[in-house]
Amino acid sequence: MNIVPEGHLRTMGEGDLQPVLSWRNHPEVRRYMFNPGEISWDEHVAWFAAASKNPRKHLLVFEQSGEPRGYACLNEIAIGVVDWSFHAAPGAPRGTGARMLRAVLDYAFNQQRLHKIYAEVLQENTRSLALHRRLGFTEEGFLREQHPTVAGYQSIYCFGLLRAEWAEH
Ligand SMILES: CC(C)(COP(=O)(O)OP(=O)(O)OC[C@H]1O[C@@H](n2cnc3c(N)ncnc32)[C@H](O)[C@@H]1OP(=O)(O)O)[C@@H](O)C(=O)NCCC(=O)NCCS
Repeated sequence: MNIVPEGHLRTMGEGDLQPVLSWRNHPEVRRYMFNPGEISWDEHVAWFAAASKNPRKHLLVFEQSGEPRGYACLNEIAIGVVDWSFHAAPGAPRGTGARMLRAVLDYAFNQQRLHKIYAEVLQENTRSLALHRRLGFTEEGFLREQHPTVAGYQSIYCFGLLRAEWAEH
């Protein structure tokens, strides 16, 4: 039997800049981003320099067996309320996303004692939609044909999860 390690989260550091950018620029990740353009190295470095000093942002890397396997960011939009964004390393074993997000929920609610996580997901992003539903998020809104893409307008699902709901889930 193949036992997949649970993995753990740590704060993103400068050593993670290269892998995180290569994941972010992979076509299978970019296609689900609200900004699907490629990010240059200089833009990425400038973003990290500012974001890593911003106390309202939590930049996290998910590791399994010493290998970085995913990136997640919590971004405080009000006291105790964050939105999140994340991506797994393309080619990471199936289930990586679910493991990473469970670790992020533990970090957000148990360690940081945050109140709510909010997310917006494009309608074509079936894996992310499945993950939010599986993790116990409530669908709080559906923005019809809100997001222009080269293939036409896409709708957006809005999800929310409260700490109390997560504790029950
Ligand atoms: C979203 C993402 C993190 C999910 O990570 P993952 O490791 O692929 O996900 P998992 O293997 O844990 O599976 C997540 C769900 O997708 C489903 N899934 C996995 N691979 C799939 C595939 N090839 N086709 C369809 N569904 C699939 C799983 O069954 C699971 O659903 P379930 O919980 O109902 O069983 C990853 O696909 C990713 O980085 N995508 C690009 C970036 C992105 O979309 N970020 C989120 C923006 S809101």
